[in-house]
Amino acid sequence: MDFFSYKNGELYAEEVPVKQLAQTYGTPLYVYSKATLLRHVEAFKNAFAGRNGLVCYAVKANSNLALLQLLSQQDIGFDIVSGGELARVIAAGANPSKVIFSGVGKTEEEIAMALEVGILCFNVESSMELDRINTVAQRLGKVAPISFRINPNVDANTHPYISTGLRENKFGIPVEHALDEYLRASKMEHVKIVGLDFHIGSQLTEISPYIDAIKTLKSLIRKLYAAGIRLHHLDIGGGLGVTYSVEAPPLPNELLNAAYAELQDLFEDVGELQIVVEPGRSIVANAGIFAYKVEFTKDNLGKNFAIVDAGMNDNIRPSLYQAFMNIITVEENPDTELKLYDVVGPVCETGDFQGKNRQLRVRPGDLLVTRGAGAYCSAMGSQYNSRPKCAEVLVDGDKVHLIRERETYEDLWAKEKLLG
Ligand code: LLP
Repeated sequence: MDFFSYKNGELYAEEVPVKQLAQTYGTPLYVYSKATLLRHVEAFKNAFAGRNGLVCYAVKANSNLALLQLLSQQDIGFDIVSGGELARVIAAGANPSKVIFSGVGKTEEEIAMALEVGILCFNVESSMELDRINTVAQRLGKVAPISFRINPNVDANTHPYISTGLRENKFGIPVEHALDEYLRASKMEHVKIVGLDFHIGSQLTEISPYIDAIKTLKSLIRKLYAAGIRLHHLDIGGGLGVTYSVEAPPLPNELLNAAYAELQDLFEDVGELQIVVEPGRSIVANAGIFAYKVEFTKDNLGKNFAIVDAGMNDNIRPSLYQAFMNIITVEENPDTELKLYDVVGPVCETGDFQGKNRQLRVRPGDLLVTRGAGAYCSAMGSQYNSRPKCAEVLVDGDKVHLIRERETYEDLWAKEKLLG
């Protein structure tokens, strides 16, 4: 459920008309709803129902500083994948002791930075990374808390680009090598084993792949305990899908209930582990919309195009993954003819579209909105075709906060240098 809805034929973000936001801040524009964001956080927190759980929001989904600030005020942690994300969450006021660091290519500088601020743990993704973390920690006179990201070789039934838990994916350590790596780590002086982690893919619409992964890792955990290795937490990844059109993904409490049921016999034997989740999309996707203007319509011998002021640089998901994202008009326009349109942008690429074959009632000057645009849209934005990055606003009831200014043309080349 979200707080974007029509009132008297006009789309509102909470209590503010989207048309008014477009007039004030221009288009294209990202609009977030604070109430929706907080509702999603609560859904995860409540799903733990008094158990020992930690929600670590995956910063990559949307890293706007104000959103991170709001999330850190909810007393949750963060899942980061770069030094830049670590710097962002600290700038937003997060507590580093609730930060987990994932990603296959952590540099020495990034590891040192994370050790200096004191993160919760590194999710180690390879044997060489373990050695690097141990060496950097030794140099700094620290002990690095680590968890291994185990690749359980599970098919998450999602788009190949966002599947992460198959052997052919670059992520994690094959489950077959896991025990050896844990044993190696247990003998290192500058690392401390704290957990075990998996992430099998994004936009998952079923619980069964999670359960398959948990089953595989349960037997690994038993082997670890038999070898004298104790864990503090089990991180069951992010990946919970959202509704872009007709998907009906499980709710956070359905996922966690199923996970706890599957883990019960293990917990009876080894004691209850803290469960960590790393959701990105399910927290922020439907807390955001992307608003843009129709510049022209054109009919190319029976094919209708709505040419909008939003490009693949602003939201690349439809071009990159052929992702379906729902497009609606800001005003219901009952008197305008319903036609089938490709909604295309100004970028000079055939792949520059926000949606294809959409039934819409539009005229030039009308506003359109892509729903579900809070996750992986602004965050994946670029300046391709020298298009300044969009403005972003957060709506809170009838109040509006500008949380990212629209870039200027000068911003486009601010870091570039003319030859002397
Ligand atoms: N943790 C790790 C280690 C991850 O790799 C990811 C996402 C997450 C957490 C968050 O997963 P989520 O809850 O958002 O599914 N750009 C793509 C999605 C890429 C996801 C990559 N990893 C898209 O626009 O669909």
